[in-house]
Amino acid sequence: MSKVRIYTLAKELNLENAKMLEILDGLGVSYKSVSSTIEEDTVELIKQIVAEESTGAGEAQAAAPAEAQDAPKQEPAAQATQTQPTAAAQSAAPASSSATATQTRDDVVTEAPKTDIPHRAPVVTIMGHVDHGKTSLLDYIRKTRVAAKEAGGITQHVGAFEAQTSKGKIVFIDTPGHEAFTTIRARGANVADIAIIVIAADDSLMPQTREAIAHAQAAKVPMIIAINKMDLPQANPEKVKTDLTQLNLVPEEYGGDLIVVPVSARTGEGVEDLLEYISLNAELEDLRADPKGTFAGVVIEGKVDKQAGVLATVMVQEGTLHVGDFLVVGESYGKIKAMTDSAGGRIKEAGPSTPVQILGFSEVPTSGEKVSSAKNEHAARDLIAARASSRRDTENAQVQRKLTLEEMMGP
Ligand code: GTP
Ligand code: MG
Repeated sequence: MSKVRIYTLAKELNLENAKMLEILDGLGVSYKSVSSTIEEDTVELIKQIVAEESTGAGEAQAAAPAEAQDAPKQEPAAQATQTQPTAAAQSAAPASSSATATQTRDDVVTEAPKTDIPHRAPVVTIMGHVDHGKTSLLDYIRKTRVAAKEAGGITQHVGAFEAQTSKGKIVFIDTPGHEAFTTIRARGANVADIAIIVIAADDSLMPQTREAIAHAQAAKVPMIIAINKMDLPQANPEKVKTDLTQLNLVPEEYGGDLIVVPVSARTGEGVEDLLEYISLNAELEDLRADPKGTFAGVVIEGKVDKQAGVLATVMVQEGTLHVGDFLVVGESYGKIKAMTDSAGGRIKEAGPSTPVQILGFSEVPTSGEKVSSAKNEHAARDLIAARASSRRDTENAQVQRKLTLEEMMGP
């Protein structure tokens, strides 16, 4: 056996293509489509993962047939009480259409009914032009004074914080507004459920405001505009709204669907409204993640601390991290020696929508990289070996293609 097409393997393993792509993403394997081919060792790895998952889901599997038989009878009641009619319809569908045994098993192994998955806190990224008051706004929300302590008052990295607000837990990611930090802003937008674009009322739209809006749009993240510094006498929120309209972003009061909230990080005016809009938006998005699922996370930032060594801030997206877990990022791995939450407190485990600082990586991970976990050191090494080999294959293929092109062009 050599290379295998993704959809062929999906069929062989009785998996949906989407699930297969999810696994490949988790392994960091790149592909163009489901008809792309994957390497033999990656295939072996996927088979292992699927085998592990299905034994892990043994309980769910055992419980499923009973549920499936009951489903048609319960359907009207279930629909009336379900907050998620679509999810209910989806999970009821295979049972009521008396799907084949394999189809039913597939659904159970690969997709728990969505309503069983608990809600998670929204991840909100704060973006905007330099000095428009992003960090100050977060400070007000967290009741801290970070902006005053920053070198030159400029944010140079991404900070991730959990804030207990009147609307429950919200995870905020602060990003720098300085023009030099484009990639950091783009990555910040990519991990967000919601983007808050902070615009100073006395300055209106500036180059990095437009850039931040473009990142949020590219990442397909819903945007809320916070017009900050409303306490200033020269504040001109109407100009901000008109300028936004010129970008085809039409505020609600002008008949569009853009939410615009006037705030002041100094007086706190409008901050409650902003939190309200965030929680409304999060509710609409129905954000859920399974703390018992396979771990998935993303690197927010990595750095070297002179005393502690390599430190990485990781956002937990699915599953739960524990001290002692083996993590793989790109082609390196590490064992979690210690974890701290965003308040700096030591923690032993961290569930979905939790930013954690991790000690134990051997190399500084790049922000934006995916993090996956491995069962043990051996599995971590295997995963890295598979990634390295698939990368080398891609590189070789590129060299080959270049050679062929040169041959075709002739001397
Ligand atoms: P970067 O991270 O460098 O992009 O800046 P930032 O957007 O985080 O701005 P920061 O919070 O550091 O605030 C910049 C300046 O604006 C500071 O001097 C703040 O005190 C001031 N500022 C922030 N919010 C307000 C506000 O609502 N009203 C007034 N009057 N000043 C504010
Ligand atoms: Mg800042």
